[in-house]
Amino acid sequence: MADVPKTLLDELSNLENLFTVDAATLKKVTDHFVSELAAGLEKEGGNIPMNPTWVMAFPDGDEQGTFLALDMGGTNLRVCEITLTEEKGEFDIIQSKYRMPEELKTGTADELWEYIADCLQQFIEFHHEEEEVLNLPLGFTFSYPATQHYIDHGILQRWTKGFDISGVEGEDVVPQFQAALEARNLPIKLVALINDTTGTLIASAYTDQAMRVGCIFGTGCNAAYMEDCGSIPKLKHLNLPDDCPMAINCEYGAFDNEHKVLPITKYDTIIDEESPRPGQQAFEKMIAGLYLGEIFRLVLVDLHENKNLLFEGQDISKLKKPYTIDASFLALIEEDPFENLQETHDLFEKDLNINPSKPELELCRRLAELIGTRAARLSACGVAAICKKKNIETCHVGADGSVFTKYPHFKARGAQALREILDWPKGKKDPVVILSAEDGSGVGAAVIAALTLKRIKVGNT
Ligand code: GLC
Repeated sequence: MADVPKTLLDELSNLENLFTVDAATLKKVTDHFVSELAAGLEKEGGNIPMNPTWVMAFPDGDEQGTFLALDMGGTNLRVCEITLTEEKGEFDIIQSKYRMPEELKTGTADELWEYIADCLQQFIEFHHEEEEVLNLPLGFTFSYPATQHYIDHGILQRWTKGFDISGVEGEDVVPQFQAALEARNLPIKLVALINDTTGTLIASAYTDQAMRVGCIFGTGCNAAYMEDCGSIPKLKHLNLPDDCPMAINCEYGAFDNEHKVLPITKYDTIIDEESPRPGQQAFEKMIAGLYLGEIFRLVLVDLHENKNLLFEGQDISKLKKPYTIDASFLALIEEDPFENLQETHDLFEKDLNINPSKPELELCRRLAELIGTRAARLSACGVAAICKKKNIETCHVGADGSVFTKYPHFKARGAQALREILDWPKGKKDPVVILSAEDGSGVGAAVIAALTLKRIKVGNT
């Protein structure tokens, strides 16, 4: 390290203590997680929603047909047309991506559905003569917590990931969406409303039969897995056979909203209090991509303003703007070779108008590592908890999302945490491996639409 002043060194060790999560804590978090997963299956409205999704089978890879998929995630809107081909587990895809305008996230329901219908219309006009799409079934990946009594309906429980659109919470999103399509005479029929995690689970299983869990580590964080109906007390009244499979969208971003076990810092508390939904998504707010840059920013502002430790005499007005730093900023810092941290320096100058000294750059680098490592390690608790709950000793976990695919060392740090939580013997092959998933929100939506049509045909449900 460069000649680091003592006060900065002290602060660094303070930050290390704050953000480091040791193996004992990971285990404690995981154990509580296992009981919360079970509690969520007991009754509606538990701490973790554990939403039944009405996806009731793994694909066998022989599903076929052409489908539209609409993917409304946290950042982009994507429209895809997917053909599941005759080759087992193979598909063709064409797609267009549209950026979700920021103001839409805090606008009204009408604005949201109109924007989505416009994008769908553009896609169809570009790729099709209208009559051709008449019968194309649509899978809508709506990646927010929804209560579903049928696969083609879903009542939004609450917005997550910083969304705050009026007129949708507590409402069935499908009629709202379909009204916007009808207003444009778009001849599309929604067949399935799905979550990105369920899509990831099913898309991954479409090409790899060892996949048992689907996860997203992106703007938000969540997982889905296949449960037996016999283990879902809140569905007992439906008299489904005990061994009937049901994919569960855990919505475990809401884990530990009561702050019983998570090692919350004062920065996490500020994130929560300043968010549109305080008291919700406690786990997600510590680990998901939407929040990583904001945690980093809050620490830097605190060190400057309250402790006079950083960027002395500099104008930090740009840094003071909430959410001005995103996870890709931290990713770049972590990728920068430690020797001179030149790129980090340039990033601070260009984006924030700040000229950090070498010791300050080193502190920022270490802070990014601490925040990124905490996220990866805590993320592993959710996966470990599902494996423990289901007594899964060995499996593949399919994961997607910008943090998983792009954040440096996230995969290795998560894998290391799993080893510590599940006490695997050293030097042996890991029994549970988190792998890059197939495109769950596109291909997964298509496969689920295909499975749904197959089920309707067979007349099971
Ligand atoms: C948030 C959403 C959840 C989604 C996850 C990942 O947690 O509530 O539905 O799966 O983000 O996108």
